Amino acid sequence: MKVDLKDRIAVVTGAAGAIGRSTALMLAENGATVAVNDLHDPEATCAAIRERGGKARGYTADVSDVSAVNSMISAIESDLGPIDIMVNNAGINVGKNRVPIHEFPDADWHKIIRVDLDGVFFCSRAVSARMIGRRKGTIINITSVFGIVPARLQCAYTAAKAGVANFTRSHALEVGQYGIRVNGVAPGSILTEGTKSMFYSPENKQRDSMLSHIPLGAPGETEDIAAAVLYLASDDAKYVTGHILVVDGGWTAGYHRDW
Ligand SMILES: NC(=O)c1ccc[n+]([C@@H]2O[C@H](COP(=O)([O-])OP(=O)(O)OC[C@H]3O[C@@H](n4cnc5c(N)ncnc54)[C@H](O)[C@@H]3O)[C@@H](O)[C@H]2O)c1
Repeated sequence: MKVDLKDRIAVVTGAAGAIGRSTALMLAENGATVAVNDLHDPEATCAAIRERGGKARGYTADVSDVSAVNSMISAIESDLGPIDIMVNNAGINVGKNRVPIHEFPDADWHKIIRVDLDGVFFCSRAVSARMIGRRKGTIINITSVFGIVPARLQCAYTAAKAGVANFTRSHALEVGQYGIRVNGVAPGSILTEGTKSMFYSPENKQRDSMLSHIPLGAPGETEDIAAAVLYLASDDAKYVTGHILVVDGGWTAGYHRDW
């Protein structure tokens, strides 16, 4: 897909990571100047964008820290210009340690909610105020299939991602009158450095059970999510708002296994 994002300023949070990096690269390849945010060094993603002839600038900031977010958004607008596209992608989970609700530690709950839900709110609020003034802009929030359907043993993540999905729709209702669109993308299982070992090791028991949930029979790639973001950011999606675009190989389409 090729769209014209020339002269657009895009922000991607968590863009040192798998999906964020692909998204930042794809937005830049389609003409946007990208503000690359991450808690950790965003420079590798900026360098990859520049190597391909794109424009990028890095911003190290914690999306769960409201003053850091407000300073970052101000800095981006003064360095690059008005933000047209905000992609709230930064997110964390508990990793491999799945924990039942009755044992779930307060610290993990608060950490995940702070990054995955508060972070989306802080960034959305900061750009929304500016976009309303300009009557222009679009926001795309990365939620998850676990914001659509429940899952065991990762209560904070499922709560945060479901929160992001309904926050997205609520925000769309508020700002549609100003010509601002707010949408979400819900990835299923996406192949990343972290999940490769699981999907590519036949001896890994989790592999077959993961794949059995995916009608297309394979994990997605980071570019599948980036392409969904690119579409929602483009003028081709000018009548799309309040929508969560599920990109999951059919995972949430229904119960598909034979019995
Ligand atoms: N990979 C998947 O299969 C999958 C599936 C569904 C949803 N998602 C969602 O997609 C998004 C990206 O996931 P990913 O797989 O690329 O993960 P990732 O771990 O590769 O990347 C996440 C990035 O966010 C950054 N980050 C973490 N906390 C931050 C903070 N407080 N402030 C700024 N940056 C921060 C990390 O440093 C990292 O670079 C997340 O929101 C995740 O929940 C991923």
